[in-house]
Amino acid sequence: MPDIGFVNGRFLPLEEATVSVEDRGFQFGDGVYEVIRTYHGRPFHLDAHLARLERSAKAIELPLPWNIQQWTAHVHEGIKRGGYAESKVYLQLTRGAAPRDHSFPASTKPTAVMTVREMRPMDPALQASGVTVMTMDDWRWGRCDIKSVNLLPNVMARQKAKQAGAFEAVFVRNGLVTEGAVSNVMTVKAGHVLTAPEGEQILSGVTRTVMLDLIRKEGLPVEERFVALDEFLRADEIFLTGTTVEVLPVVGVDGQPIGSGKPGPVTQKLQAAFQRFVG
Ligand code: PDD
Repeated sequence: MPDIGFVNGRFLPLEEATVSVEDRGFQFGDGVYEVIRTYHGRPFHLDAHLARLERSAKAIELPLPWNIQQWTAHVHEGIKRGGYAESKVYLQLTRGAAPRDHSFPASTKPTAVMTVREMRPMDPALQASGVTVMTMDDWRWGRCDIKSVNLLPNVMARQKAKQAGAFEAVFVRNGLVTEGAVSNVMTVKAGHVLTAPEGEQILSGVTRTVMLDLIRKEGLPVEERFVALDEFLRADEIFLTGTTVEVLPVVGVDGQPIGSGKPGPVTQKLQAAFQRFVG
């Protein structure tokens, strides 16, 4: 089964799915995106992902070519055509092709692309053992709530983390932990779960929202507030949340162990709650 490509409403084999070299997504990173995965073949919280796509597009004055029902139909069709047990859907919407000029023409036709690939879950051994992360200066722009395809700081940060043998880069802005390069960050201190508040400094993760709900249902106190770096380094437990990482324990930061240096009881309880939730 070939991987599935999709350009402006047309499904085609991935290797035949192409866009113009003058596409503004390619030349300026002038676009937004979503990554959606399936559980049991069904897209996880598709409505929340599409609502966020709509918010991101609106924030950059990019008109959506389809309404939510039509996007939903395209995503379901892509998953069906892929035929995988579990799929990873990438949606990207850019301001389309135009002669290069920073300001955008009023009449550009947006380019909508989608790819559907097999979702290979994270190594269960890593989920069990936890990962290490590396903190880094958050030198992204001021609108991290927009899921923009401008990912150069995230790309560089994650590469630096990888070269240092860490799984994820955790951004720190003005001494406060914001989020990971591909994930949201949650800190456990004295039984409380702390995570950066929604706003322009973080992406409001779909998994973050699901988890906050599950954490409250588990009866644990939640505080949506920034955690200072020194507080972070002295955390009892830390975990990451995201479409690709699910709920992932962090056992070391910048070469220092967190808590016991092993996944802690709160994180394990929440990992189990998330797994029950996704079935
Ligand atoms: N990234 N923060 C950032 C900066 C992210 O890029 C992501 C997701 C998240 C988690 O959001 P969600 O729970 O909705 O997946 C937080 C995707 C998976 C990516 O860029 O590949």
